[in-house]
Amino acid sequence: MRDIIRGENITTSYGERIMHDNVSWSIKEAEIYGFLGGSGSGKTTLMKTMIYLKEPNLGDIYFDGVNMWKSDIATQAKIKLESGTMFQFGALYSSMTILDNVGVMLVEYSKFSKRQIDEIAMFWIQKVGLKKEAASLYPSELSGGMKKRAALARALVLSPKVLFLDEPNSGLDPVSSRQMDSLVRDLRDSLGLTVVMVTHDADSIFDILDRFLIIENKKIAFEGTLSELEKADRNPLEELFKSRKK
Ligand SMILES: Nc1ncnc2c1ncn2[C@@H]1O[C@H](COP(=O)(O)OP(=O)(O)OP(=O)(O)O)[C@@H](O)[C@H]1O
Ligand SMILES: [Mg+2]
Repeated sequence: MRDIIRGENITTSYGERIMHDNVSWSIKEAEIYGFLGGSGSGKTTLMKTMIYLKEPNLGDIYFDGVNMWKSDIATQAKIKLESGTMFQFGALYSSMTILDNVGVMLVEYSKFSKRQIDEIAMFWIQKVGLKKEAASLYPSELSGGMKKRAALARALVLSPKVLFLDEPNSGLDPVSSRQMDSLVRDLRDSLGLTVVMVTHDADSIFDILDRFLIIENKKIAFEGTLSELEKADRNPLEELFKSRKK
């Protein structure tokens, strides 16, 4: 499989504080790729470099072969529409129905009529496993798991090539977390999407990630598959592994 995203020698910082020190990674088309690391290690920040929210100080990021930060504005605008993102604390608009929340990007970026937008939004609402009846509800009327699904539908509505998920399972109970994982896998399988997800969830690591990286002390301490990690000399996730095997 070819690389859909490749970060080469990336350094990021907030002011004087270096967050990532000359790191490189590559994400293959149609894989579910994880960003792991302790709290505050810079997972969200590194994800933001791939969606134009955090410009690296040094290095290059290639999105489908294009140097994304060093291309012209029109190319950047096109790349932005090829990514869908569900943010870590991404809230739905509380004053809008689920149907309108899901359609909001189409209102902004397409020339479809209101009726067409509603139809497309309804398609995605059902695709993420919500019932049609949920479309007319407001976010406050939905359970945590349903809200996450609605946020996922909103991230998918422009049919992105790459779906970015920052902690999609946070705040969900174990059963809803596993349901979210299988939904993510089904979406990848049926749409051929590439999924990049930040996660703390040990079960997700074992169950759905094809490959992942681990950030530790500003560097990428590991990149590869779970079985490669199990064979490595040192496992930065050892504590997590122990906790799961009990
Ligand atoms: N806009 C910002 N300005 C200054 N510092 C920031 C900014 N955003 C994040 N940071 C800091 O950078 C560090 C890494 O943050 P980041 O959100 O990338 O970590 P994370 O690995 O996603 O953490 P978590 O697991 O808690 O979500 C943190 O110390 C954070 O406080
Ligand atoms: Mg984060």
